[in-house]
Amino acid sequence: MAGATSTVKDRVAELRAAIEEHNHRYYVLDRPSVSDAEYDRLLRELQELEAEHPRLIEPDSPTQRVGARPADGFETVTHSIPMLSLANAFSNEEVAEFDRRLRERLDLDELTYVIEPKLDGLAIALRYEHGRLVLGATRGDGRQGENVTTNVRTVRSIPLKLRGNNIPQALEVRGEIFMERSGFEQLNRRLSEAGQKTFVNPRNAAAGSLRQLDPAITAQRPLRFYCYGAATEDGLPDTHLGCLEQLQQWGLPVSPEISQASGLEGLEAGYARLAERRNELDYEIDGVVYKLDSLDQQGEVGFVSRAPRWALAHKFPAQEEITRLLAIEVQVGRTGALTPVARLEPVFVGGVTVTNATLHNAEEVQRKDVRPGDWVVVRRAGDVIPEVVASVPERRPSAARPWVMPSNCPECGSAVEQVDGEAVARCSGGLVCPAQRRRALEHFAARSAMDIDGLGSKLIAQLVEADLVLSPADLYRLDEATLQQLDRMGRKSASNLVRALEQSRHTTLARLLFALGIREVGEVTAAQLARHFGSLQGIAEADAEVLAGVPDVGPVVAAHVQAFFAEPHNREVIEQLLAAGVEYEVETPRRPEAMPLAGKTYVLTGSLQAMTRARARAALEEQGAKVTSSVSKNTTAVIAGTQPGSKLERASDLGVTVLDENALLALLSSLE
Ligand code: IVH
Repeated sequence: MAGATSTVKDRVAELRAAIEEHNHRYYVLDRPSVSDAEYDRLLRELQELEAEHPRLIEPDSPTQRVGARPADGFETVTHSIPMLSLANAFSNEEVAEFDRRLRERLDLDELTYVIEPKLDGLAIALRYEHGRLVLGATRGDGRQGENVTTNVRTVRSIPLKLRGNNIPQALEVRGEIFMERSGFEQLNRRLSEAGQKTFVNPRNAAAGSLRQLDPAITAQRPLRFYCYGAATEDGLPDTHLGCLEQLQQWGLPVSPEISQASGLEGLEAGYARLAERRNELDYEIDGVVYKLDSLDQQGEVGFVSRAPRWALAHKFPAQEEITRLLAIEVQVGRTGALTPVARLEPVFVGGVTVTNATLHNAEEVQRKDVRPGDWVVVRRAGDVIPEVVASVPERRPSAARPWVMPSNCPECGSAVEQVDGEAVARCSGGLVCPAQRRRALEHFAARSAMDIDGLGSKLIAQLVEADLVLSPADLYRLDEATLQQLDRMGRKSASNLVRALEQSRHTTLARLLFALGIREVGEVTAAQLARHFGSLQGIAEADAEVLAGVPDVGPVVAAHVQAFFAEPHNREVIEQLLAAGVEYEVETPRRPEAMPLAGKTYVLTGSLQAMTRARARAALEEQGAKVTSSVSKNTTAVIAGTQPGSKLERASDLGVTVLDENALLALLSSLE
């Protein structure tokens, strides 16, 4: 059918134009306007259409070449060996197909592979002559790149001179320059403080930093390098892994995450292992790369157009996507804080469908320059909550206007206050504001607070709407008959809720204190205050200095506690709660010197699995220990989780005891 073919032709042309444009933005401008995932989808669609209609293939189709032409400003270099790309796979089936094809071509039952992290930075070619670095070049279009030698020389992990024996006359090294996450965050903080534009992700930051025309700027950027391949006429070991080991002996950095694997099973296990490591690493990887280990086998299977047949990039699910920002709505929190929330066109990212993301505060909306109607970069990494990273101004609809915080609360119409020096705007309505009331009640009923089973946010909304509950104390006045009048509330649920309320009356001081929702008094602080004072009365009467002396409580928290108890309305609610039969066990305060860990000092480093560091700290302090941030010879022990920092080294320098997480748990449970 002529019609169908011309549609395919149109689509192919459209895809080519779009991909060319994206290549230019990515490689030349360092300012992509689509996510990698979206780019991959376009490229894949084009590859599939070309495979189905080979007559449409043209030599300058983006499927036939690797990147974009080098930019102006740097001298052009022609690569002695073209810098190729990798075929991508997104599923286990595609990996199985890769392994099957290679086994067939090589006529072998099982193959040995090397598994490498796919580093998310930019490819670089280094040339060493007589052991000295003479050239550093970007990939460019794969054939010709930019001469960035001066900049490359500022990257500290790239040796300027090779070390060791049998150094070849000429050596071509290939690898990736990338930026660590921590360095990236620091850099962005610095740029934003200086009023300069920040980078969307570490990869753009790495590319932007390396392609600075002023090498002094590159030198200030925290860039790193790992190599993943090499070529020389002087001969190298006959396996890929052997080559990497040789490169390492010559002083070139090789990723410690690289391993060898046998057969498809080995590939799958390696993928799973690195997928798990992904969020622990301080740099971003967007997949793994499988490579045939034997160089003879590599030579035998060869290349196809832009990529070697002997390698495959198995991509992780995307953690970044681009979607439409439909609206910015304002959510009112328990203490009246107004939070702008992004309502997004649903987008699948980081393994879930994301429809909302917090924008934190007005300043952040302004700094990220996001406007309702914009296309925005949405990121969700690991279990971290989804985030709007930036807008894509190039795709901004002309009608999009900057967003401003409303001057009246969207829920109750009260004036919005902006405290000087604080980023948050607040609704001044207090408990007049139904939103604040709802949130305060949700907090009060929560599992870690009064633990009122069955009192969820929908029910609370109904109770507030019907004016049945104004303050937490009103909850205890609810009876079955009243509850049954509510929507979707049968006799059984009503009686269950009354029973749950009844049960919640017997609680602990820590829970009750937390449930009251005093600003900045979280679970851990509430527990500390409860332990120290033993009664609500004691806390209400304490002066600021005594309060601030409690572990985890500083002058700010102390002021919030005092302000809370000074407010007549709050005292009234407490009286009503106690009158309604709410009671807590009285905890007798312990004398600090009688606590089991009195006089001991601990330092925490790295991340713990069973609890957060804040929790570990509170648990130690509850037993009378001091927790400090720097190691000295007076430190009792350093508790090291995974990926510990320099504190661990300092501990071993000073001969301070080091405990792992299990030892910490054993210590704490022995004191209970
Ligand atoms: S090998 C002939 N190994 O991925 C094979 N590439 O899509 C050339 N990359 O341009 C590449 N980590 O920037 C290889 N361990 C790794 C890699 C890796 C990241 C990048 C590299 C390359 C792109 C190919």
